[in-house]
Amino acid sequence: MSTQDTDLDSPVDVRASAEAIEEYREQSRAHWNEAASGWIVRQAAIRELFAPVSRWMVEAIDPQPGQRVLELAAGVGETGFLAAELVAPAGSVITSDQSEAMIEGARARASELSLENVELRTLNAEWIDLPVASVDAVLCRWGYMLMVDPGAALGETRRVLRPGGSVALAVWDAIDENPWALIPASVLIERGFSEPPRAGVPGPFALGSEQRLRDLIEQSGFVDVRIESLELRHETASFEEFFQTTLDLSRVFHDAVLGCSEPEIEAIRASLAERLAPYTAPDGSLSIPMRTLLAAGVA
Ligand SMILES: C[S@@+](CC[C@H](N)C(=O)[O-])C[C@H]1O[C@@H](n2cnc3c(N)ncnc32)[C@H](O)[C@@H]1O
Repeated sequence: MSTQDTDLDSPVDVRASAEAIEEYREQSRAHWNEAASGWIVRQAAIRELFAPVSRWMVEAIDPQPGQRVLELAAGVGETGFLAAELVAPAGSVITSDQSEAMIEGARARASELSLENVELRTLNAEWIDLPVASVDAVLCRWGYMLMVDPGAALGETRRVLRPGGSVALAVWDAIDENPWALIPASVLIERGFSEPPRAGVPGPFALGSEQRLRDLIEQSGFVDVRIESLELRHETASFEEFFQTTLDLSRVFHDAVLGCSEPEIEAIRASLAERLAPYTAPDGSLSIPMRTLLAAGVA
C-alpha cells in the first residue's frame, strides 16, 4: 500500500460517471448526517484542539462590524461563531453545511452561545444558493477537499464574495504528515476492512499539497493568495480515548470496525496500539502529530 494513497474517508471513486458523482454526493450527505452525533459528542474537544486553526482563519478575513460572513461546510459550527461576535450587532454570519444533522448541531451551539446574528442554512458549497457579491468574507475549515469539484466550490465562493472580499480555509496536509489518520487507515486497509482510495477522489487529504492548493485557489480567480502550514498535536489521555474519538469522528473507521467480529476488533486494537507506541508516553497518554494547510485569498 502506498501511504500517499491512504485516505480514511474517501470510500467512493467519483471519477467513474455522472451517476457515480451523484451517488458520491448522496453518500457524502448521508455519511455526514450519520457522523453528526459523534461530532456533537466531541464538540468541546474539537473546539479546543482546533482553536488555533479557527483563529488564523478569522484573523485572515478580519471581520468588521456590520459585515456579512458565510461559513461553508461548517459542521456543528464554531469558526463562524467567532466571526459572529466581531461583526455584531449589525453584521451577521451564515453558518452552512450540506448535512441537516450538522446544522442542527450548529443551531444548538449558536443558541447555547446566545448568538442572535447567526443564520443556519443547509446548502451545498458546490452551488451556493446566494446572489452574486452578497457576502464580505467566506470561511471553510476542512471542507473543500471533501467536495467532488473543489474548483467549482472555490469558483462559487468567489462569485458570492463582493470584489475585495476574502476567503480563509483549511485543508489537511498530505496524510504522511498526519499519523493520527494514517495509522488507523493503514490498519484497516492492511486487514482488508477498508479499501485503499484511488488518486484524485475527494477525501481529507485530497488537497494536501501546497502547490495544488495554490493552483486551485488562483485558478478560481483569487489574488494575494497566501498559504501556511500549522502543526497541531492530537492529545488523548489514553489509547482507549484515541480509539473512541476515532470511532466518533470517522464514520469510515466506525462502520469498518463495528462491522467486525469481537476477535477482529481485538486484532485491530492490538495492531493500532502497537503502531501508536512511538506516540505513547509511559503514563499511557498519546500525542500524535497533525498538520494542516491554511490559505487565504482576495476576490
Ligand atoms: C470534516 S467536517 C468539518 C466541519 C467543520 N468545518 C469543522 O472544521 O469542524 C466536514 C464537513 O463538510 C461538509 N461538507 C462536505 N461536502 C460538502 C459540500 N459539498 N457542501 C457543503 N458541505 C459539505 C460535511 O457535511 C461536514 O459537515
